[in-house]
Amino acid sequence: MVSLTREQFDALRVLLATAAGLVFDDSRKKSMSFSVMERIRESGARDVPAYLLLLADPAEQQRLLDEVTIQETHFFRNPPQVRALRAYVLPELIRHAETHGRRLRIWSAGCSTGEEPYSMAMMLRELLPAGPGWDVKVLATDLSSRALAAARTGRYGARAVALASPEQLARHFEPGPHGTYEVRQEVRDLVEFRHHNLVTEATPFEAPERADTILCRNVTIYFARETTRALMGRLHRCLRDGGYLFLGHSETLWRVSEDFRLVTLGTGESAAFVYRRLDVTAATQLRHVLPDRRTLDEGPPVVERRVGPRRAAPGRSEPSRVLPLVPAVEPVPSTSPDEVLRQARRALSQGRYDLAAQLAADAAVLEPLRAEAFYLRGLALVDAARDADALLDLRKAVYLEPEQGFAHFLLAGVLDRLGHGAAAAREYAAAADTLGLQPGDATADELGGRSVSELAQLCRQLEERLSAQTGDGAQARGVR
Ligand SMILES: C[S@@+](CC[C@H](N)C(=O)[O-])C[C@H]1O[C@@H](n2cnc3c(N)ncnc32)[C@H](O)[C@@H]1O
Repeated sequence: MVSLTREQFDALRVLLATAAGLVFDDSRKKSMSFSVMERIRESGARDVPAYLLLLADPAEQQRLLDEVTIQETHFFRNPPQVRALRAYVLPELIRHAETHGRRLRIWSAGCSTGEEPYSMAMMLRELLPAGPGWDVKVLATDLSSRALAAARTGRYGARAVALASPEQLARHFEPGPHGTYEVRQEVRDLVEFRHHNLVTEATPFEAPERADTILCRNVTIYFARETTRALMGRLHRCLRDGGYLFLGHSETLWRVSEDFRLVTLGTGESAAFVYRRLDVTAATQLRHVLPDRRTLDEGPPVVERRVGPRRAAPGRSEPSRVLPLVPAVEPVPSTSPDEVLRQARRALSQGRYDLAAQLAADAAVLEPLRAEAFYLRGLALVDAARDADALLDLRKAVYLEPEQGFAHFLLAGVLDRLGHGAAAAREYAAAADTLGLQPGDATADELGGRSVSELAQLCRQLEERLSAQTGDGAQARGVR
């Protein structure tokens, strides 16, 4: 194992930030050392100073980028988003394409080893109407040459396809050597792989040939906020009006970009949060299009709100600004979400956790972007010792309301108890940061009446403890 001096680590950090927008805080020094050791071994460099000299060559920079980038991915990743793609987004894109030259462009930006773009191509194969004249392409780009080389082979192990159904396995793959799965040619034909750096290069789509949908999932997690902000501006410009932007479940545009609108597709636990470019024209057209799609799912299909900062602690949230894009299509409920949430809180205080969870779920159906509903359901489930069930609700709560310190705190505890130490440390850090934004004398009834500043201190201690145990718990803090 090589040991990087502070100067060497800093030099590498500057290089990787400039070359690819990647931020390496101190918690990632160890993983950087591993990557450098690997490159020293492969390149035959004598030591770290000799290796740093090699980095003047762009080819060696590329090899180091291949080494340090994180390629984790799999087919049909993020089931709520996959359901939303299949039920709403792709059918709508296909309908749009039918009146626009049958041309459809999807961009998988940061495609890694290809599972994401191939999954898109597979769903398109299932949904595209038969007939000539379709011009459909999934453009799949990544910074890592190594990942792209793997993607082009189209061959995968069992773990990568674990979320594919037996029908999808049979339809889109053929058996490869040693129990592997090979993507069928008709799927590959829809995908074009290309090397592309999202931070330093112009986007591959330009007006008037814009992309219909962009997936840029789990890519910006290692970017600085400014880098993500600039990237989102470019993505917005190259996405057509009405097009969708999919980010990873821990990535939000809150405080990053106000160009997109957050929409939720589907309801309840299967709801997916997606961003959308909606200029005036697309928003107007949607009023006519959306009511036709009611039959596709169980709830109000789309609600949206402008992306923008909201600050509200549980129990005193500001009035929600959820704006249905369509006239109410569901039976108008006789009870308001506020009233249902009041009942949920009452049930919680009486120790009737299952009832509280049910009421909070009802409120989430009535108002799918209400963070408080997910928070209360998560709280009720935690109180009922149902940590695994609470996870999703608490994730949604912090996604919708990133300054919800109490939700971060609860989520951290759940992650810790479920054995996800590093993720728990990140949540404790987020809890400490966001609780610190509240008035020092505030208290939290549902968390045992602790004062907020006391809770923030506790979160910091818990974060430090977990970081020490896992070695990288503080990783996310300096990154976003
Ligand atoms: C964790 S993978 C995400 C794969 C896939 N999008 C998913 O969500 O399953 C992140 C990918 O982003 C790529 N990446 C990181 N920085 C990039 C940059 N500046 N330009 C293009 N790709 C980048 C990495 O090489 C890696 O393959």
